[in-house]
Amino acid sequence: MNKYLVIGNPIEHSLSPLLHNYWFKKYGILDSIYEKQKVDKKDLKKIIEQVKNGELKGVNVTVPFKREMFDCLDASSSEAQLTKSVNTLLKEGDKVVGYNTDQGGFEISLQKNNWKPESKKILIFGAGGVTPSILSTFIKANGDNKIYLCNRTRDKAEALKELWDKTVNLFGMNKNTIEIVDWGKKIELCDLVINTTSVGLLKDENINFDFTDYDNNEDTLFYDLIYNPKETNFLKDAKLRGNRTMNGKLMFLGQAQLAFKMWTGKSPEINKEVIDLLD
Ligand code: ATR
Repeated sequence: MNKYLVIGNPIEHSLSPLLHNYWFKKYGILDSIYEKQKVDKKDLKKIIEQVKNGELKGVNVTVPFKREMFDCLDASSSEAQLTKSVNTLLKEGDKVVGYNTDQGGFEISLQKNNWKPESKKILIFGAGGVTPSILSTFIKANGDNKIYLCNRTRDKAEALKELWDKTVNLFGMNKNTIEIVDWGKKIELCDLVINTTSVGLLKDENINFDFTDYDNNEDTLFYDLIYNPKETNFLKDAKLRGNRTMNGKLMFLGQAQLAFKMWTGKSPEINKEVIDLLD
């Protein structure tokens, strides 16, 4: 039996086993099973050992170990290096290699909404573990976007901007620009407003920001990376204002699709059936 695992802490909430086992069954990959395991930081090396010796065929890494895992690996993809974040492990030759499929998952979610990162104004809340994956999507697209980065702790946004500047240098000329804005400060109207913070995971939480300028604006997309709960207050309020909304389910499906393809060679379909499976 090929064994796959998602590791994190906490891990009970993870929908990855449901999704990957569904795909294993759908595509007749009956010698494989996907489970979840709560781990501590000290266990990461052991997990890598298990991938190396074949006990584990593949691993997904979730909060809060995506950064720490990056530091433990034999090798990592360019995406993982750019974002210093790893969510997928597999063995290549005798090396355990780390990938970041969150970035690609985010890209897939935009494509599925026909949303092109070109000449857009984008407001991003948060500067946590997943935010570099979002930023690198825009750097890669190089589409003349204006990005505003807003985090409660300004220093963390500054650090991300430094990483951004270095990355942009690696890419050579880059048409995107990034500007840090103070938490709560109003800026010009944007085409995309993304919540990458953990605010909204709990029912009563809300980002305290004055969005009244967006009243009756049907063009702006409010995107919350959170998919459980399905509709955070950030999205509920946007809907009430008449804005377009989207939660993190497609990004979750996109990152899983890319990981599944790396492990099995099969690119599973993201269709209504699988979208409904996660509800
Ligand atoms: P993770 O790695 O899981 O993303 P993280 O690195 O702690 O976790 O990031 C969580 C993000 O949510 C951060 O941007 C955090 O802001 P700070 O950098 O100021 O901590 C943000 N966040 C969490 N709780 C918040 C709150 N109550 N108000 C505003 N931002 C919050």
